[in-house]
Amino acid sequence: MAVEFVHRHFCLKMKTEVLSIDRRKINREELAIAGEIIKKGGLVAFPTETVYGLGGDGLNPASSKAIYEAKGRPSDNPLIIHIADIEALSSIVKDIPDIAKTLADRFWPGPLTMILPKSDIVPYETTGGLDTVAVRMPRDEIALELIRQGGGYIAAPSANTSGRPSPTKASHVYEDLAGRIEMIIDGGEVGIGVESSIIDITGDKPTILRPGYITKEMLEEIVDSVEYDPALTCVTGDIKPKAPGMKYRHYAPKAKLTVVEGHPNSVREAMKKYIADNREKGVKTGIICDREDRNYFFESDYVICVGSVDDKEEVARRLYDALREFDKTDVDEIYSVSFGNEGLSVAIMNRLLKAAGQNVIRV
Ligand code: TXA
Ligand code: MG
Repeated sequence: MAVEFVHRHFCLKMKTEVLSIDRRKINREELAIAGEIIKKGGLVAFPTETVYGLGGDGLNPASSKAIYEAKGRPSDNPLIIHIADIEALSSIVKDIPDIAKTLADRFWPGPLTMILPKSDIVPYETTGGLDTVAVRMPRDEIALELIRQGGGYIAAPSANTSGRPSPTKASHVYEDLAGRIEMIIDGGEVGIGVESSIIDITGDKPTILRPGYITKEMLEEIVDSVEYDPALTCVTGDIKPKAPGMKYRHYAPKAKLTVVEGHPNSVREAMKKYIADNREKGVKTGIICDREDRNYFFESDYVICVGSVDDKEEVARRLYDALREFDKTDVDEIYSVSFGNEGLSVAIMNRLLKAAGQNVIRV
């Protein structure tokens, strides 16, 4: 099949092809077509183990510009370059410190992104003008094959419209980007559901810029001491985050979202009261909670249980879908329970609080 390629600048609304791939039997020829689109400067959304990415050739400045345009993303927010083999790393970074080797050995392929000094072949359009570059080798087999077929260096932010929750299903990508990109590869639902952990190893101490599935504890098993970017724990927003993307409000549903923190019993009682008060005022209330708590909130207009209280992996996997789901309802206000503060909960709460614009009630 020949690849029909329309030059982006002459095409306001293009046809977005959806390619479904069976992961038990990955069809390399079909992915070769997708790879060809990337090599010619086009954009292909694809599954990774974390969230769906919007891929373009990371070494082609025009592709990176097209990514920003399709997402409506500010161009000072740098992209992650995805690679499929460790040899590729040495061409896009200036040098590889020992710690990068150790981390790559242990966590690649996987949901870890490293920030390193960029080499000259990486265009500033990809790094948002920075002299550093974010690199990740994903674990998803479809992603890896696409990277190989697409020239080896795929720049990919999450495949959502800027500000919306990251996509965990191909249908989410379609909602946001149909008509704006050449192709969406549908590889089913992702396994992790929150974006990769980002670690900056350009400074004195390895620093987590964005928490994810690879936790601080997991990193500290092999690296002496790891810090969090102070901006991550600063509620007033006075400290500027080191990952430019972390400064933007993200993942926000259309209805006002509030996170309720405190002892589980107090949280339940408070949320039941908000539901009752809202009902009196004619305000429709949505609830995000653990499966075990569903029955407490039967009076609310819409309840989404994102997982079991003992299964944070399920919560992470389903959170973005839940936030998108509320946009299809007519609720006016959403209240969410909080989901802990260690391990994977750090990433879950980071995304949830961003979606809430840091709007928290402590009870
Ligand atoms: O799991 C993921 O990381 C997904 C999948 C598709 O791989 N990608 C993703 O990309 O989440 P994106 O663009 O949505 O988020 C990348 C984050 C942004 O917050 C950006 O500011 C930060 O990485 N970043 C990229 N390059 C950086 C750099 N050189 N220095 C500091 N932060 C950087
Ligand atoms: Mg994103």
